[in-house]
Amino acid sequence: MRSEKDLLDSAKKYSFRGRVDKSVFSGPVFVRGEGSTVEDVNGKQYLDFNSGQMCSALGHNHPTVTDAIKKSCDELIHAHSSFFNDQEIILAERLGALLPPPLEKSLFLGSGADANEAAVTIARKYTDGFEVASPHISFHGLSDTARSLTFAGWHSGHGPLSPGSMAMVAPYCYRCPLAQKFPDCEIACLDTSFELIDAQTTSKPAAVITEPLFSAGGVVEPPPGWLKKLKQSCEERDMLLIVDDEQTGLGKLGTMFGFEKDEVVPDVVTLAKHFGGGVSISSVSTSAEVEEKIASTEFVVTHSHTNDPLACSAGVASLDVIEGEDVPAKARKIGAHLRERLTWLGEQYELVGDIRGRGLLQGIELVEDRRTKTPATRQGSEINRRCLENGLIFSQRRGGSVLRFVPPATTTEGQMDQAMDILTDAVDKASVRGAVSG
Ligand SMILES: Cc1ncc(COP(=O)(O)O)c(C=O)c1O
Repeated sequence: MRSEKDLLDSAKKYSFRGRVDKSVFSGPVFVRGEGSTVEDVNGKQYLDFNSGQMCSALGHNHPTVTDAIKKSCDELIHAHSSFFNDQEIILAERLGALLPPPLEKSLFLGSGADANEAAVTIARKYTDGFEVASPHISFHGLSDTARSLTFAGWHSGHGPLSPGSMAMVAPYCYRCPLAQKFPDCEIACLDTSFELIDAQTTSKPAAVITEPLFSAGGVVEPPPGWLKKLKQSCEERDMLLIVDDEQTGLGKLGTMFGFEKDEVVPDVVTLAKHFGGGVSISSVSTSAEVEEKIASTEFVVTHSHTNDPLACSAGVASLDVIEGEDVPAKARKIGAHLRERLTWLGEQYELVGDIRGRGLLQGIELVEDRRTKTPATRQGSEINRRCLENGLIFSQRRGGSVLRFVPPATTTEGQMDQAMDILTDAVDKASVRGAVSG
């Protein structure tokens, strides 16, 4: 096997950098993964609490998924995307049975950004409207339309947003932009947002697109009732509600879909990330009524690899795992243990200002001081570096002060404790004031 140095020297010469979090040519260089661990070229093992790029949340190289891929290799990898193939039909049928009514019609694409672009096109064509709004800490992907509706960042050097993109005030209660407190606020951020949307709309607004829990924006959980009130506000304006459940759906939060918490059924739902068990596939699902109207227009959203049997069979296999192994229940159990350990950490260290998230997607926000809430970005980076050295991978958000943990559903109690011990040691070493007194 080639050495790490040899591979990184080659990367320095031939690889084009464009990653979200890392722009230096340094290790680790990964070569294999199984369940909740990955291994680098030096044979060092890591607990992967980022689930790859959150796409291996069912566990790396799950055997149900790898078997399905191998079967596709014997049968059909790629197909003419204007004709149907069996795997694509089976996947649409399986997803239709899983989604709440009236959502039943699905189309499959490659990336999460593709699916959100398609969802926006569907909303525009269905409503005959144009403007689309999204909360100001959202992430929907880095293609042009998706990036323009991604307000958590990644705009530098991209010039003006696509026309019709509007930001709303996000329900970031720990740092409420309106200096309010829930529940006394009565979710004022939504009223303010819609006043602005109404004032800025030039003809008819088409949709709001939102995550049910803002992952890239800092693992921010909206307060109870927010999604329901959002849906009502959309309905009052004949706007569609698109829920981007790409990161949060399919069991990760402890429910099959992230939008279930407020008992809301969106008009359009997008899925991606661990849908495919590590293979790239995304979906857009809507009602038969919306699909009927859209399909009668010249709506065409397709790419060369759309509906490929290999990707669709990986999608079917991922649903087999999610339903067969009851991933929502696993997420609740693993998530409860993770929360217990993070809560204990918050009781010990002033540095931990807030603990948020659900199931297999949780995070802590680090602050210099709990009163001023100055983001502790330097400590976040120090903790991340030390954890990586000690074999724990996770990601940082909001400039580094939020540590985000996405352990795969395969994570055992022993692995969780090992990861939390590594984290506790790093938080202890980085703490400005040490243990909280009293
Ligand atoms: C909520 C959400 N939407 C969309 C995307 C974009 O997906 P992709 O990177 O597959 O385009 C992501 C990726 O992190 C995401 O978290």
